[in-house]
Amino acid sequence: MQPPRLKAPKGTQDFLPEQTRQWQAIERFAREMAALYGFEEIRTPIFEDTALFHRGVGETTDIVTKETYSFETRPGSSGKGRSLTLRPEGTAPVVRALLEAGRLDPPGAVEKLYYLSTPMLRFERPQKGRYHQHHQFGIEAFGIAEPEQDVECMLLQLDFYTRCGLRDLTLHLNSLGDAESKARYSAALREFFAPRVGQLSEESQRRLETNPLRILDSKDPRDVAVREGAAANLDFLSEKSQEHFARVCSLLDDAKVNYQINPSLVRGLDYYTETLWEFTAAGLGSQDAVGGGGRYDNLVETLGGKSVPGVGFGSGMERLLIALEAQGAILPDPYIRPVWVIAQSPPARDEALRLLRS
Ligand code: HAM
Repeated sequence: MQPPRLKAPKGTQDFLPEQTRQWQAIERFAREMAALYGFEEIRTPIFEDTALFHRGVGETTDIVTKETYSFETRPGSSGKGRSLTLRPEGTAPVVRALLEAGRLDPPGAVEKLYYLSTPMLRFERPQKGRYHQHHQFGIEAFGIAEPEQDVECMLLQLDFYTRCGLRDLTLHLNSLGDAESKARYSAALREFFAPRVGQLSEESQRRLETNPLRILDSKDPRDVAVREGAAANLDFLSEKSQEHFARVCSLLDDAKVNYQINPSLVRGLDYYTETLWEFTAAGLGSQDAVGGGGRYDNLVETLGGKSVPGVGFGSGMERLLIALEAQGAILPDPYIRPVWVIAQSPPARDEALRLLRS
C-alpha cells in the first residue's frame, strides 16, 4: 500500500515556478524602489525571544495575545528553557537588531532599512488573503521625526505598487497623535463605552479594559452600532500632533496623492503614534489591506534604546499578487532565455553541453 501523501500545513502555501516567477518580478521592483529611496536591506532571524514581541508589539495586541507561535526551548545549563516566538511582524526585530549593533546610539543616528519576502507567522484563522505564514516587503526609517519622512515612506510604497502595475488603490490615513494624545483619547473612549458595555461584542468588552482604540476598527455589527456617537480621535490631538498631521496631508496634496482620512483606522499594533496609513486595493475581497504602516516614535525606547523616532510600512506579498492577478496585471518574466541549444543526434549531445557553458 502506498503511504499517504502529506499536505502543506493549513494556512501555508507552496510557490511553484509559475508563482516564483511572479515573486521574483515584484522582488526586483521592491529592491529597485528601495534603492532609489536610499534604503538598504536587513535580515533578522525567524525567531526571537518572546519578550521582544510582548514589549514591542504590545501586551494587549491580538498578535501577541492569541496569534503567535511560541515555544519553550529545552532546559539549558540553568535548568530553565527560554520562550521563543516565530516572528509575527518585522518592526520589533529590526529595532532589536539595530540596538544590538549599537547603530541607534550615536546622537542623530539615521537608519533606513528594508526587508523583503520575509516570512511572518501568525495564528490567524486562514481565509483568502490571510495565512498562517505570509511574507512582507517592509521598510523602516529611524532618526527622522519630521512629517516628510512619513510621506517619503508612503510615496515609496505607492511607487512600488504602481511599478508592479497595481491600480485602484486607496490610501487611508489617520493620526493617533503622540503618547499623551493617545492616552487622552483612550480615556475618553473608556468613558464613552463604559455605560454601554453590555451592548458591545464580547471581544470589545475585553478591549475596553485593554485597548479601547481597537473597538473602533471592530467589524462586529454590535460594536459598529455602539460606537456611532463616540468622539473622533482627531479632536484629541495635541497642537504638535495636529501640526504634524496637517503637514503630512499638505505634502500628500503637493505630491498629488489622493487619500481618505479615516478616523476608524487604528491598525492592530500598540506601538503606533502619530501618522497611520493603509493602502487597500480592488480585487482582494474582505482582506483588502495590501499594506500598512505608521510612525512609532516610542518603540526604540520601549525596547531599551534612546528616544529615536521611527516610521515604516509592511506590505503583504501574497495579497499584492492576488490583487495583481484579479486586476489582470502582467508581470515581466524575470528569466531571460536568449539562446536554446538543441542536440539533434547522440554525438551532438557532448558538444551541446560544451556549447551551453561557453
Ligand atoms: P500589519 O498591518 O500587521 O503591519 O501587516 C502588514 C501587511 O501584511 C498587511 O497590510 C497585509 O498586507 C499583510 N498581512 C498581515 N497579516 C497577514 C496574514 N495573516 N496573511 C497574509 N497577509 C498578511 C505590520 O506587520 C507592521 N510591522 C507594519 C509596519 C512596519 N509598521 C511600521 N513599520
